Amino acid sequence: MNTLSHARIRGTGFYVPERILTNADLEKIVETSDEWITTRTGIKERHIVAKGQAASDLALEAAKAALADAGLAPEDLTHLIVSTVTPDSFTPACSCILQHKLGISGRVAMDMNAACSGFLYGLEQVRAIIALKPESVVLLVGAEVLTSRTNWEDRATCVLFGDGAGAVVVTGSADAADSGRILDTLLYSDGAGADLLMITGGASSEPYAMGHVVGPSHFIRMQGQDVFKLAVRSMESVSREILERNGLSIDDVALLIPHQANNRIIEAVGKKLGLSGERVYVNVDRYGNTSAASVPIALAEARASGRLPAGSLALLTAFGGGFTWGAALVRF
Ligand code: ACO
Repeated sequence: MNTLSHARIRGTGFYVPERILTNADLEKIVETSDEWITTRTGIKERHIVAKGQAASDLALEAAKAALADAGLAPEDLTHLIVSTVTPDSFTPACSCILQHKLGISGRVAMDMNAACSGFLYGLEQVRAIIALKPESVVLLVGAEVLTSRTNWEDRATCVLFGDGAGAVVVTGSADAADSGRILDTLLYSDGAGADLLMITGGASSEPYAMGHVVGPSHFIRMQGQDVFKLAVRSMESVSREILERNGLSIDDVALLIPHQANNRIIEAVGKKLGLSGERVYVNVDRYGNTSAASVPIALAEARASGRLPAGSLALLTAFGGGFTWGAALVRF
């Protein structure tokens, strides 16, 4: 077995665009209220891109922060993975564009679409890359401009989403005790729930022709209540399973970092798992749901604020369109 074969998160970073959209701002766009949004979702504000800012621009800033945190340069990277459902373009891939913006070329660059679970899906890919090629230096970014697919006439969805990017740099590590070691990843998917959460307009199932007018299908459509229940159930069960198969218990978890979709979902998952307060990371109030960017933004913030001291165990979990869901264990 190669001595570098433990995948280890060496650096984390995130970026959110400057412009903030508050609940009060939304009150001017749709029939809603700060009170409704706060009590139903916990969201107070979200960051949204400036005109012309694409997913790769957010990814670039998050990548630079993660590289700086790792003490590495873009030239050190061997692989770039971007998890996103809102890439700059269908083709080229966001990861290719990001590579160019980082001033490098010739690396492996690929995008991953697993919606809000995209970062966890990416982590498993990273582990596979390190297992296959232990000298690899892999950049994994979750980057979304969800507001590019937000229907500002639909109050049931437009209050939920925000833009942002979070990144990690992962390398092989010879020492199992090194900080940031990814102990395990566990992933699931089920296409049976596809129509409960989808964006189809302009894709191959619903192609646009010249002159077509964009309709609701161009934007995120979601059956909120159904998604809510499935999200809670799935994140709870996958979290339990990953702990159990690693011989760990909930008492070993220092911090739960769940996908930040809705504070009620986060609280319900925490409660079912027996975790609350300081042991559950919450930033949905400031960023809303940033899909694939949500877990890595929360991870980067949690590390930067000292919530993951040496030796602590982080339990990451997410649920999103597809449906996809999963969990990861990282020892810092
Ligand atoms: N402001 C005011 N009223 C609203 C708003 C709004 N923004 N949105 C909906 N309402 C109204 C509805 O019209 C409805 O009114 P009615 O009773 O007169 O019909 C009422 O509020 C209740 O609506 P519900 O949809 O039942 O509200 P609910 O409590 O379920 O909350 C929400 C809706 C926030 C979308 C919730 O279902 C949710 O968070 N679902 C999960 C979303 C999620 O987790 N996604 C994550 C995975 S996918 C991803 O991240 C991309």
